[in-house]
Amino acid sequence: MFNLFKKKKEDNKRGDHYMSLKVREVVKETSDTVTIYFEQPEPYLDYKPGQYISLILELGGKEVRRSYSLCTSPFTDPHPGITVKRVKGGLVSNYLNEQIRPGKTIEIMKPLGHFTTEFHSKNKNHFVMVAGGSGITPIMGIIKSVFVNEPESKVTLIYCSRSEDQIIFKKQLDAFESKYPDRLKIFHNISQPSSGWTGLKGRLDVEKVKTILNENNYPGLDTPKFFTCGPDGVMDTAISAFESIGFNKKSIFKESFFSDIHAKEETLKSEGKLSPELTREIEVTVEGQSYSFEVPAGKTILEAGLDKDINMPYSCQSGLCTACRGKLISGKVDMIEDAGLSESEIAAGYILCCSSKPASSDIKIVIE
Ligand code: FES
Repeated sequence: MFNLFKKKKEDNKRGDHYMSLKVREVVKETSDTVTIYFEQPEPYLDYKPGQYISLILELGGKEVRRSYSLCTSPFTDPHPGITVKRVKGGLVSNYLNEQIRPGKTIEIMKPLGHFTTEFHSKNKNHFVMVAGGSGITPIMGIIKSVFVNEPESKVTLIYCSRSEDQIIFKKQLDAFESKYPDRLKIFHNISQPSSGWTGLKGRLDVEKVKTILNENNYPGLDTPKFFTCGPDGVMDTAISAFESIGFNKKSIFKESFFSDIHAKEETLKSEGKLSPELTREIEVTVEGQSYSFEVPAGKTILEAGLDKDINMPYSCQSGLCTACRGKLISGKVDMIEDAGLSESEIAAGYILCCSSKPASSDIKIVIE
């Protein structure tokens, strides 16, 4: 009894946003990509298809955090999993590709993210998905969920990879296509194909996307739902194509894995859109506990809070993952990157502490 109590306390030592998962299995998907499946915790991991978790690891004597999308579906997969592609020189992605083994326990931040949707058995949707490289990961979780939850919905997937052997989940995707021939159409676009490749090749462009969509529009279905995830070039092409055929930005879900927040800040500065940098006293409430501290000129609210050892949640530190989301109760901030937030969240006063700097006095933020 005593041990149980102690364990629970240790698990939650950082707060309600955190938990631990034990690695169950590591599956090699391609030469530079693995899927890591976790044991189901008790109670089961609560997530929506397309969401991500943030891993917190101790590497080289330092705590590092990285966010990875779940490739699994809570509706079909008994064990939650993330897919990790090796990044050249990337500390965490290389560690996860080379060294992670079953049995290891990893601390995580609980699932987050808006790259998801609600499912209903009566829906007749056309899911149009455009993925590039490891951007297939959250899309995979959504595709699996569509097939079991919406028997009348269809999926068109355009998937860009560098070469045939870099196609992640190739076998699973082939199996889905055979199982659901009338409901799933997959178009692989290979940028550097072998001589025998007969499918789409080269860079994805707007015309290719439009041609595929024109040939695969399913009359009688409800409004399409667009999802795109991958490198900026792939997502920008997909969005231009979606918009050029008359679809509204609001029906497009986009998941970014990369943001150059420093370059963005320089651009905003040169356009005169940022307030003068001054040291400001602010108040932040984290899980019911309030802290007043100074944010030195030039620092973000998250940086200043972490310098004071305040247990503020965070992961990507580049305005994408929303782990650091808080609600601005009073005052004004300059938010350099808001890509992780939806329009309605911004309208409701939510900010990302990792990309926000104080722009007035009287700042109060609540992080739930
Ligand atoms: S830490 Fe990821 S958005 Fe702030």
